[in-house]
Amino acid sequence: MIFNTLRTLATITLIVLTDGANLEANRGNHVRYDNYSVYKVRYQNNLERQTLLSLTQQPHSIKLWHEARHELHLLVSPQSLPEFVTFLSRSNFSAEIFIQNVQKAIDNEYAANSRATEDTFSWKRYNNLAEIEDWLDDILARYPKVTEGFVIGKSYEGRPIRGIKISYKIGNPGVFIESNIHAREWITSATATWFINELLSSNEELVRELAESHDWYIVPVLNVDGFVYSHEKDRLWRKTRQPSAGSSCVGADANRNYNSHWMENGGASADPCAEDYAGPFPFSEPEAKAMAEFISGIKDKLNVLLAFHSYSQLLLSPYGHSSEVVPYNHKDLMQVAKAYADAVQALPYGTIYQYGTSAGLLYPVSGSTKDWAYNEQDIKISYTVEFRDTGKFGFVLPPSHIIPNAEEALAGIEALLRECKKLGYLQLKYKV
Ligand SMILES: *[C@@H]1O[C@H](CO)[C@@H](O)[C@H](O)[C@H]1NC(C)=O
Ligand SMILES: *[C@@H]1O[C@H](CO)[C@@H](O)[C@H](O)[C@H]1NC(C)=O
Ligand SMILES: [Zn+2]
Repeated sequence: MIFNTLRTLATITLIVLTDGANLEANRGNHVRYDNYSVYKVRYQNNLERQTLLSLTQQPHSIKLWHEARHELHLLVSPQSLPEFVTFLSRSNFSAEIFIQNVQKAIDNEYAANSRATEDTFSWKRYNNLAEIEDWLDDILARYPKVTEGFVIGKSYEGRPIRGIKISYKIGNPGVFIESNIHAREWITSATATWFINELLSSNEELVRELAESHDWYIVPVLNVDGFVYSHEKDRLWRKTRQPSAGSSCVGADANRNYNSHWMENGGASADPCAEDYAGPFPFSEPEAKAMAEFISGIKDKLNVLLAFHSYSQLLLSPYGHSSEVVPYNHKDLMQVAKAYADAVQALPYGTIYQYGTSAGLLYPVSGSTKDWAYNEQDIKISYTVEFRDTGKFGFVLPPSHIIPNAEEALAGIEALLRECKKLGYLQLKYKV
């Protein structure tokens, strides 16, 4: 199968983008992924997973692109393709190609972004940080009675990390939405901004009820430095931008940097070059630290925390650090996740979400936002939501997916909160 794949790869890459030269002129300093491909490799057990993961360690140059349930998605450079092919032919792993040429996917996305020429903010394309912040200012100015801007702190490079609170009345249960902690997951901030706009402007009864009976705290772009870097230098950047001592590799995985079971059970990496590098110590990353301080300050007001990610179409609940134990309210967390998944599937798109604990459904993850919120801040409804897709485009999801994905998030969150209320999770923890 792999050899067929290679032949296809060779054929496909002969197709040259006609407007490639123009794109290049504007993007001369971008990291390029010409002829890099993404392969899906399935594994049966942890031993096989470790064997595959070893391919992504020095001296190999294959990179881990993403992990999904029982499968690794590997980014294979043209230079490492022969080694990868040899590995596959000597093992019993079968690989399937997802993306033939990552650069082409990036160029297509870039072209679609450029085609959506409205110079104002739009959900037909991915907006950059400056555009998102201008839009946020505009929203705050248009809805002064029910919105309030806040800044949770500063990033490593000194950017303010901004959020919006939406509150229609006192005495509402609180929902916190963290988004774009992973820089390249652009669909998350696109969805978060669309969601904010719906809460404020929709006339639909269900949305009005949703908007007005909860207090919303939404940070559309948490990893601001990484997000800017992913727009300006490297579309596939995931981590923060703080340099590491004793390594030329930059950044840590902020979603492994929270002080809750930090670095336990192989749930993160100690290697500064790894994509899931936990950082030198808990809260070494200013962005995670700022979130933690902000949330700690309002934790009595929060009943629910959702962390937006992509991709895989999953709802992941605590725990991340262990699959041996589950939280006391695991059954409720599954029932609430099911409500989200059912609501999404009922939409005309029919998109399927799976759900489970992150350690149980996927693999150990330590020091993530949702586990920290659950374990340390007493927020008993806490999920990571992995948006579209399941790998066809991965992180480079075409902008035509923004609105459908956001509609799914809206339907999902509405159902999730309805289920939470039914189960008694939206009672106030503070006196009005
Ligand atoms: C990508 O592969 C094609 C086909 O093998 C080749 O012609 C082209 O030069 C390669 N591009 C780069 C930038 O390596
Ligand atoms: C591959 O599978 C065959 C048949 O199931 C088995 O005999 C062989 O030992 C396996 N090879 C490896 C490298 O796992
Ligand atoms: Zn992520």
